[in-house]
Amino acid sequence: MRIIRTSGEMQQTALALRAAGRRIGLVPTMGFLHAGHLSLVRLARARSDAVILSLFVNPTQFGPREDLGSYPRDFARDAALCREADVDILYAPEAAEMYAPDASVYVTEEHLAAGLCGAARPGHFRGVCTVVAKLFNLCLPHVAVFGAKDAQQLRVIRRMTRDLNFPVEIVAGPTVREADGLALSSRNSYLSADERRQAPVLRRALDEAERLYRAGTRDAAALRNALQGIIAQAPAARIDYIAVVDDETLAPVQTLTRPALVALAVYIGTTRLIDNTVLQA
Ligand code: PAJ
Repeated sequence: MRIIRTSGEMQQTALALRAAGRRIGLVPTMGFLHAGHLSLVRLARARSDAVILSLFVNPTQFGPREDLGSYPRDFARDAALCREADVDILYAPEAAEMYAPDASVYVTEEHLAAGLCGAARPGHFRGVCTVVAKLFNLCLPHVAVFGAKDAQQLRVIRRMTRDLNFPVEIVAGPTVREADGLALSSRNSYLSADERRQAPVLRRALDEAERLYRAGTRDAAALRNALQGIIAQAPAARIDYIAVVDDETLAPVQTLTRPALVALAVYIGTTRLIDNTVLQA
């Protein structure tokens, strides 16, 4: 496995791979890798013959009061996991390498990014789109893999790719979970033992949404109330949002007639966790 630290070397390497007729697969991450990330590596490997995993804690997607400084990092462990997972190139640039001090161009998506996490985290998706666009230009992937766990991010990136004509196929990987239903996340490492015991309440709420939907409930407010009731059972939980939105437009829905995304953001103690499910006939 090759470790690359600079933009110049990354882009030259990607150009050389392309000139040699290799198909490049990219898995963008912020590191502190877990089985969810590694499942995306396997999807990339199945669709390409040179897998690049990027590891970059992207400052532009963190708000001023968010956890950029404390975001978990363990480069040696991440590199070992990448080697085991048969990653070809680990691209791990420094922040100074990614952004010029006077960088002044950003990529913004203006509709899908407005609600949900975009409303709760102003500027977040501008940072995500900007860094993913840069990673596409640096790694020149044929295919890039993203997790369904970050449902809004996946939809925003698909839209950016379409609207800016990036020649990249976007592939989605299913959410990988712990045995008790908690979606794997680098931020789970912030949870105390007691909070960790309460954290599966997100998945339990989504299970209930799926059950109610199968039983015929089509009223979004009824679904939201049921989810709220379940989350309220966990004393450490504080709801940031419970959203029932159209799966394609992410516009709020009142009555479910088309596939709907049920998305949750819940603080467990001070840790903000997200999860989602898609309800469709
Ligand atoms: P990060 O949170 O490290 O996630 C990297 C990728 O792993 C994302 O596509 C995310 O959806 C996926 N992922 C996270 N948890 C998962 C799980 N439990 N199962 C399956 N996939 C999972 O998302 C980011 O980083 C950043 O915003 C990034 C796209 C790298 C841009 O900076």
